[in-house]
Amino acid sequence: MNIAVINGPNLNMLGIREPEIYGDSGYDTLCALVKTHGEKIGAEVTCYQSNHEGNLVDEIQRCYCKVDGIVLNPAAYTHTSIAILDAVKAVGIPTVEVHISDVSTREDFRQISFVRAACVKTICGHGLNGYTEAMDYLKTIIEAK
Ligand code: DQA
Repeated sequence: MNIAVINGPNLNMLGIREPEIYGDSGYDTLCALVKTHGEKIGAEVTCYQSNHEGNLVDEIQRCYCKVDGIVLNPAAYTHTSIAILDAVKAVGIPTVEVHISDVSTREDFRQISFVRAACVKTICGHGLNGYTEAMDYLKTIIEAK
């Protein structure tokens, strides 16, 4: 089983950016967490981050026919990007939308998620654990296929 973890803009600044919202752990800690969890559940995990919308689209396309599930935190592009929505639809890979913070209780502009329409599940506000929960969910879907 192959799982791609894809993170959008400013998530490389985890641990530095607004720790009261996103916590004290850095991006490296997130990558280590998902890789270790992958070993536990029998998944090969790749961890990718970009601050650029087109790079995120490229990475989602690279997953086509190579990856069984995607854990996707598009960060601010969640609220703006039809290109990322279309990329997830195009590859047809089960994708879980993850947000570290609980976007449902934040600003109005964070209430819109374009990508959600193409995702099998959304996990918000569970901190970094949301990523491992997403991986567990993907495993159940992939194994049920
Ligand atoms: C985020 C929430 C987004 O609104 C924000 O732009 C982010 C991170 C989250 O993980 O909580 O950069 O996706």
